Amino acid sequence: MGVHKWSLVALVLLNLGVFLINGLSTHNASTRPAIVNIGAIFTFDSTIGKVAKVAIEEAVKDINANSTVLRGTKLRLEMRSSNCSGFLGMVGALQFMESDTIAIIGPQSSVVAHIISHVANELQVPLLSFAATDPTLSNLQFPYFVRTTQSDLYQMNAVAEIIDYYNWRDVIAIFIDDDYGRNGVLALDDALAAKRCKISYKVGIPPGPGFGRTEVMDILVKVALLESRVIVLHVYPDMGYLMFSVARYLGMMADGYVWIATDWLSSSLDSSLPLPLEKMENMQGVVALRQHTPDSVEKKAFTSKWSKLTGGSFGLNSYALYAYDTVWIIAHAIDAFFDQGGIVSFSNDSRLSSGGFADLHLDAMSIFNGGKLLLDNMWKSDFVGLTGHIKFDSDRNLVNPAYDIINIIGTGIRTVGYWSNGSGLSTLTPENLYSKQVNRSSANQELHSIIWPGEVVTKPRGWVFPNNGKLLKIAVPLRVSYKEFVSQLPGTNMSKGFCIDVFVAAVNLLPYAVPYQFIPFGNGKENPSYTELSNYVMFIFAIGENTASTLGRIVLLIWLFVVLIINSSYTASLTSILTVQQLSSPVKGINSLKKTNDRIGYQVGSFAERYLLEIGIPQSRLVALGTPDAYTDALRKGSKNGGVAAIVDERPYIELFLSNQCTFRVVGTEFTKSGWGFAFPRDSPLSVDLSTAILTLSENGDLQRIHDKWLIRSGCSTDNSELESDRLHLKSFWGLFLICGVACFIAIFIYFCQVFRRFRNVARSTVDSDGSRSRRLQTLLSIIDEKKDPRDKKRQKVERSISDESKDCETGHDSEQR
Ligand SMILES: *[C@@H]1O[C@H](CO)[C@@H](O)[C@H](O)[C@H]1NC(C)=O
Ligand SMILES: *[C@@H]1O[C@H](CO)[C@@H](O)[C@H](O)[C@H]1NC(C)=O
Ligand SMILES: *[C@@H]1O[C@H](CO)[C@@H](O)[C@H](O)[C@H]1NC(C)=O
Repeated sequence: MGVHKWSLVALVLLNLGVFLINGLSTHNASTRPAIVNIGAIFTFDSTIGKVAKVAIEEAVKDINANSTVLRGTKLRLEMRSSNCSGFLGMVGALQFMESDTIAIIGPQSSVVAHIISHVANELQVPLLSFAATDPTLSNLQFPYFVRTTQSDLYQMNAVAEIIDYYNWRDVIAIFIDDDYGRNGVLALDDALAAKRCKISYKVGIPPGPGFGRTEVMDILVKVALLESRVIVLHVYPDMGYLMFSVARYLGMMADGYVWIATDWLSSSLDSSLPLPLEKMENMQGVVALRQHTPDSVEKKAFTSKWSKLTGGSFGLNSYALYAYDTVWIIAHAIDAFFDQGGIVSFSNDSRLSSGGFADLHLDAMSIFNGGKLLLDNMWKSDFVGLTGHIKFDSDRNLVNPAYDIINIIGTGIRTVGYWSNGSGLSTLTPENLYSKQVNRSSANQELHSIIWPGEVVTKPRGWVFPNNGKLLKIAVPLRVSYKEFVSQLPGTNMSKGFCIDVFVAAVNLLPYAVPYQFIPFGNGKENPSYTELSNYVMFIFAIGENTASTLGRIVLLIWLFVVLIINSSYTASLTSILTVQQLSSPVKGINSLKKTNDRIGYQVGSFAERYLLEIGIPQSRLVALGTPDAYTDALRKGSKNGGVAAIVDERPYIELFLSNQCTFRVVGTEFTKSGWGFAFPRDSPLSVDLSTAILTLSENGDLQRIHDKWLIRSGCSTDNSELESDRLHLKSFWGLFLICGVACFIAIFIYFCQVFRRFRNVARSTVDSDGSRSRRLQTLLSIIDEKKDPRDKKRQKVERSISDESKDCETGHDSEQR
């Protein structure tokens, strides 16, 4: 009895002491109970559950051992396994409600989280999930749902940036068809769309048992027949490993394939390495993501403690760290809750007691009155945990989402870079970049080199021609003029021409087979409109239109101006040619042509018509011309006589036209660089490869050979006709030659006139002494010879006599000579 009395007194004193201490201290800890209940619900025997269980227990132990966190209050943890079942999870959650639980950790599964969140909402108990990554578990719909890990929204952004970084456009997504998988892939779809990439094929795998090797094989066989070779795998570990095993069996872990696994793989690997060699062999070259947690002293200490806790039976993964930090979020929030005078009290849900649910004995469940206050304190968390800075942003997501990008090589994994929400892909850890203003331009994105499946280091192309027996359809315009470019072989579906040869040569250069089929386009009566064609087909096949010119925008237009060289007699002299040049080139380019009122020709179906209209030339001045003969006729006639002053057309046609028309030429400057064009559907993976192939053709001379085969004709070449008018020929100078010739003739005539006159004088003086013929000839020769005599005396004498006699010749005897 005495003992009892004393102990009572001691208790009273102790209470008084506590009261005094409380009164003196700044907190009103009188409302702090000795124990608060928290619950945890997840699947104990899963990859994540196994490690989370150890981590959560350890966190509770650490918090209870630390008197500064809850200041006297202890956490009591109750754990239930939900076995990945939404129903069991809900039952477990309801059971917690009967035991005055103020916060629930879990669930790990997004599916279960969707269900339990309703319960948590109604009963106002915060639900903290360290592993439910489904991005649609939004805080708006479920105010009491607190995600204490990264949302898959960010993980999918990371995947999309990796895909964009490697310039892949189409991916295949294989996912578990439940909330986790489906919503994750939806987020991926959005993230890819923002990068102008897309998921070309989605394969949902039913969750739960019953989907075995045979079914996986069926799926992967289908996937192998598709065009894309980039596969994103967003599943659970068991299914993932099965996929890899079947994929390797089917040869899909070989050169050319890209496998990107979301963090299911890294968390499974981290907690179960080393895996059996066989399993590792199946996934060589796979790229995976892992939630990034910065290195710290605390993390290192926890990691070294881990093997003691588990006896080395399983490794630590990032979910364990998030689970550990989750308990601390609760502890800090409870502390703040008590600081603010929060009281742990519950009240009955009147709807349950009055709603006719009495038989279910739901009245034991009650609403946590302080739920709102506790929840608010959780959102205000701000401390450094094992996973880094624990803080929620305005959207209720943990700040600084970041991922490691890992590559599976040999028996281990290698980190090839990081992704963070702020800086994108980099080889520096995100912590290094948080303080810096990061330039997100693609030039600044970087990853270390990856060893891809098949042990290749070169980036896989990411797509192949689908092996599904479908032919690539190629529209071929049914031209009626300039058939050298492309035309149909009569009575067949085959085509021939310059374009066809270039295409075939280029396709043959591609490193893969491209089965194709030509499809004629047009009515065969006039050239088809290229604009229509490009709207209609897979790809048009035309020369002169650039790749980007599917709508005929970037276009090569050139000027054709023709000078008629008048081949009449007089205009052939040098001066007259220059004059004609000036007179017949009033058109210097498109602008001077625009100013005139002359009519302008264009080829039927060509985009030149639209171009001319767009630059403001009225339709009435435009003349559609169908054939090269029509070109010639119209140009010959000229604008005044119902023809045209000039023709605006694409360079290749002009070149062909001029190759047998020497009388016309090109004037003005080309509007754009002359180039080759193949029109592809937007983002067609073929476009880059075919462009490269054509460049190769151009470099090795094949393009020129094909050009010469089809487009070089006899007669004058284009260059000649352009220079023709500037070049001077022998006949250009005949006027000058005539003048020269006449002058020479007159000079010679005068000379002989003089010689003859002198000879007559000499002959007259010597006629009596000797009149023989030979003597006369001698005299004549000596007179001619005298001219060449070098002696001055004799020459002066002769010159004098000639000048005397020439006067006579001119005045007296000229008429006589004639
Ligand atoms: C406890 O103290 C806080 C301030 O620290 C005060 O706002 C609150 O009203 C107090 N609660 C009680 C029950 O005294
Ligand atoms: C991620 O980045 C976007 C834009 O860069 C920003 O609006 C968002 O708040 C960031 N999220 C987090 C959790 O930091
Ligand atoms: C980002 O970097 C690129 C290339 O490094 C540069 O061209 C661009 O101007 C930079 N942008 C900003 C905003 O600094």
